[in-house]
Order: sequence, then C-alpha cells, then structure tokens
Amino acid sequence: MQSIPRHCFSSAEEIESRFTEHRYICDRKLATTLFLATRLEKPMLLEGEPGVGKTEVAKVLAKILDTPLIRLQCYEGLDTNTALYEWNYPRQMLELRLQEARNIEKNRIGENIFSEAFLLKRPLLQAIQSGTTSPPVLLIDEVDRSDEEFEAFLLEVLSDFQITIPELGTIRANIRPVVILTSNNTRQLHDALKRRCLFHYIDYPDPEREQRIVLTRVPGVREELTRQICRFMQWIRTENLYKRPGIAETIDWAEALLSLGREELTADAVEATLGCILKHKQDLDQVNKLDLPLIVEQLEHDTTRPHLQ
Ligand SMILES: Nc1ncnc2c1ncn2[C@@H]1O[C@H](COP(=O)(O)OP(=O)(O)OP(=O)(O)O)[C@@H](O)[C@H]1O
Ligand SMILES: [Mg+2]
Repeated sequence: MQSIPRHCFSSAEEIESRFTEHRYICDRKLATTLFLATRLEKPMLLEGEPGVGKTEVAKVLAKILDTPLIRLQCYEGLDTNTALYEWNYPRQMLELRLQEARNIEKNRIGENIFSEAFLLKRPLLQAIQSGTTSPPVLLIDEVDRSDEEFEAFLLEVLSDFQITIPELGTIRANIRPVVILTSNNTRQLHDALKRRCLFHYIDYPDPEREQRIVLTRVPGVREELTRQICRFMQWIRTENLYKRPGIAETIDWAEALLSLGREELTADAVEATLGCILKHKQDLDQVNKLDLPLIVEQLEHDTTRPHLQ
C-alpha cells in the first residue's frame, strides 16, 4: 500500500495558512492534529457541538489536496451493505433473463453476475478503491449516530483498509485514504476506535477567531457589526440554553442582518432575528424574557469580562 505523499504539508503553520486561503479559520491545535494525521497516516476523530465546523474540515482538506471527498453519513441502522457494497440485484436479474433469451448454454447462465460490473460500490469500498496517485479524503460523518456493531466493523476497515468480498476476493487500498471521523458525542465511542484515531475537540471559537470567521465567510459585513455579533454570541453561549448556537448560526445571523440592511446590533434587530441563532422555543422564550436593550448596551461597554473583549 502506498502512503499519503508525506510532502503534502510541511508544517502545521502551512496547514493553517492553506485552510485560511480556503476560508476556513483553524487554530493551531487543529492544524497540528491535521498535520500529524496526514504525516502519521492516522484517522482523525473530530468531536464537538453541532455547527462548530467539523464536517467542513474534511471538505476543505479535500479541496486543498485536490482529491475526491467520499462521504459516509452515519445514522442509526446503517449497515455494511449501505456502507461497503451491495450486489445490484435488479441488474443481475435482468442479465439472467437476457442470457436465457439469448439461448446461452444452461450451465453458463449467470456465471458473470458476481463480477465488478454488478457491484454497487458504497463509500467505504469507493475509498479503498479510488486512490491511484493521490489519496481520497474519506469523511465518516457523525459516527456516534451509528450502532455499536457498525462501529466494530469500521474498526476492522480502518485497521487494514482491505475488504473481502466472498465472490471476488480481497480488495486492498493502493493508497490509504485520509480518514476524518466526526462525532457530536451523542454517545460514547469505543476506546478501541478512539485508540486508532488522533482526537481533536473543536470548541466554540474565541471572540477573535469567531470575528475572523465571520469576516471571511460573509462578504460585505462591516467590522463593527461583526464585533457586536460575536460579542453577543459569546455571551449567549454562556446562558443555560437547551441548544447553544454554533459558528454556522453566527454566519447565518450575520448574513441575515446584512440582508436587512442593519449596520449595528440594536436590541430590536436582535429581537427580530433571534430565530437565526436559537432554534428551540424554550431558548427563544428564555432569552426574550431578558432585558435585551440592557444586555446589548452592556455588551457594548463591558470590556471587563475577557470573553467579551
Ligand atoms: N473555523 C471555521 N472557519 C470558517 N467557517 C467555519 C468554521 N467553522 C465552521 N464554519 C462554517 O460553519 C458552518 C457549519 O460547519 P459544519 O457543517 O462543518 O459544522 P459541524 O460541526 O459539522 O456541524 P454538525 O455537527 O451540525 O454537522 C459551515 O458553513 C462552515 O463553513
Ligand atoms: Mg457536520
């Protein structure tokens, strides 16, 4: 099995700047984990709250490496057929009928139907087979949603990057894919899976990074409005909410305020657009009960709390 070209990144700093070029602002720790994952050829497990940029890491990495992104979206009940391969039964049946109609010798009928032409390749098999000169990025998204049996099966695939199809034999990866697993931590993953991965927890960004993200992602947004939005987001995440908003919500909110022609964050602008950042009625009720004009005013002037700088 060939390796990921080891020269693809020379340092964590390079990763940071390549990600910035692709409008993803990562911090040094994430860049270092990415660097090590590509250097040591280890899968990388990204954990974090929804909307903090886990999936985007894999998308951006595939763009930077100019390589296909193969995505396996996990869910409860995901089975190996959907993840690995399936035989294309309708096509096999059709082929059998055609062969019968062509009066092919009885003992030769169907002899070709368990060949690659009748195989439906699902993401894991695609990832194992697709690398010829450069490794694909395999994104195993939201692995915590899959069942434990599926996790055990993944473990095998990630150890060997080979699979055995009884009718065809063993298929090995030419090049080990770059594997990124994501998890929202809805359940604990097995230690055995974690042991095989480099782990990184993506936290909510600090105010400075969140501002850079918004300025990068939302063309035309003013710096002052961005600063106000990010202060508000930093504050709202400290509230005892059912679901704290992620970076995705910050970006949506900035876009919404921009579309409404708002140049600064006033309490009435917050009230009118709160649904961009809070998606549960109980959270909306809780925040609407607060004195928003006072909070907006305080956030504007309170530079004593470090997280509001
Ligand atoms: N560091 C960042 N730099 C630039 N954009 C970011 C960053 N983090 C998140 N985003 C943006 O936020 C949005 C949400 O990111 P993403 O879908 O990757 O989140 P996620 O953690 O996978 O969420 P979920 O758990 O809900 O799937 C995307 O539009 C992404 O571009
Ligand atoms: Mg995601």
